[in-house]
Amino acid sequence: MNTALHIRSERPSAAVQPRRTAHRVRRAPALVALLAVMLSGAAALAQMPSNQPAGWDAALRPREAVDINPAPDVVEINLEAVVAKVDLGNGQSVEAWTYNGGLPGPLIRTKVGDRLIVHFTNKLPAPTTVHWHGLRVPIEMDGVPGISQPPVLKGEAFTYTFTVSDAGLFWYHPHVASAEQVGFGLYGPLLVEDPQEKVRLGFSEELVIVLSDIGVDEQGRLDDPNSGGTTGMAFGREGNVVLINGKVGKGVLTVRSGAPQRWRIVNTAKSRYFALDLDGQTFTKIGSDGGLTAAPTTETNLVVGCGERLDLIVSPKGAPGSELPFRSYVYNRGYGSIEFRPAEEPLFTLKFADLPAYAGPAPSPISRTVAPLSAAGATKTTMDFTIVQLQNGAFEYGINKKPHWATKPFTAALGETQMWTLVNKTPWSHPFHLHGYFFQVVTETGAPVHPVEWKDTINVPFEKTVHVLVRFDDRPGEWMIHCHILDHAEGGLMGTVRVGLPDGPATPAHQHPPGK
Ligand code: C2O
Ligand code: CU
Repeated sequence: MNTALHIRSERPSAAVQPRRTAHRVRRAPALVALLAVMLSGAAALAQMPSNQPAGWDAALRPREAVDINPAPDVVEINLEAVVAKVDLGNGQSVEAWTYNGGLPGPLIRTKVGDRLIVHFTNKLPAPTTVHWHGLRVPIEMDGVPGISQPPVLKGEAFTYTFTVSDAGLFWYHPHVASAEQVGFGLYGPLLVEDPQEKVRLGFSEELVIVLSDIGVDEQGRLDDPNSGGTTGMAFGREGNVVLINGKVGKGVLTVRSGAPQRWRIVNTAKSRYFALDLDGQTFTKIGSDGGLTAAPTTETNLVVGCGERLDLIVSPKGAPGSELPFRSYVYNRGYGSIEFRPAEEPLFTLKFADLPAYAGPAPSPISRTVAPLSAAGATKTTMDFTIVQLQNGAFEYGINKKPHWATKPFTAALGETQMWTLVNKTPWSHPFHLHGYFFQVVTETGAPVHPVEWKDTINVPFEKTVHVLVRFDDRPGEWMIHCHILDHAEGGLMGTVRVGLPDGPATPAHQHPPGK
């Protein structure tokens, strides 16, 4: 019985995956044998308790992509970008830009080492691509138009295929007019699971949470992506409707007091930060962008900038029948970002089931060894995030005063370690993202910041400087760097690093100011 419960909770959307489910049943003996070999704790896996009431996450869990390939280590899916009417869960609906007709795009569930094959079709009225945020893919699969592939034109298709090499929560989104396209709804989560992690945690309840927003007017029309001109760009346009797995925050998670659960959170909003709060109760942070951290930490308020991820254990407590709001507070991301803002509605509400409080073992907050990168011999590079006002009054972002369409690429040799000093003297914070590699945050002298974690996106607060170490260990190519406030990226705060390539001009990608 425990086994059945475990399977159900591990694959919450089995009902919408008939082919995979049928196949899994047929292959069950082989799978079990494989697990027994792979997992020293196979017995523990089978005994894993289900601590939450049945259907605890039914109102919130994201829909999942259908795996059409029966091979156990291949996940093959069809992904279609298409305009579709979506219900935001508050009585409002909107013609959004979607993957497979829904918001967010379907959760792509894989396990570490799997081959992922994505048959992508563009049914949008505009060119697009799919970028796999945080995944260490070959450059040809990175989804950057002009560098890794031509844009996928309206009516065209492209197959993305690569091996998922790192466990963690990642996400996918376009890299063409990304402020507009992400703002219109194009983003989805991609989970790379390590089955050992569940065994080590001792429980299986897990919820993938996609935080985003969308700009919609009373008529249900999408906001103009250029609203406010370059002043709107300089601030970063936030949508007026906050979404949690595509719905306005009316969802209820039914929980047993004290029982542990794992929340995998990604912020896919194009400009909005989230400052998470569980009414003072604690979160145990066990991971972030690139998987588990070197040590868990206990937090009561956690900021997740655009593009960043969090891996949390929560064991919320409350009397049966009572409710607990999971909120985001307004975060000061710079000039004009906190004034006159109404208090936000809860992201969702936890409701305590009429059950005795959980009395099982406390969760073991898992971690892993993350060797700190050494700054010895690292090449030093300064990236100064800049904003200027042009003669015509327009604002323009840049790195070292040059917008991406006028800048020269940074360079790195294969195998080289670099220490980047990210200087932000602009009035706004910038969640800075590097494609294709993880980095580590370090002190000014290059010493590790503990607990050590692998990041691909880091908040560089306004008037602050952040130092990171990155090793370009593999995969030559021209890789993007940019602010993940996508208006800022399009407004100039973007560039590339040519890794292991001969000297040369920037590949003509993203070369021109948007709309010009
Ligand atoms: Cu999510 Cu170029 O990034
Ligand atoms: Cu920015």
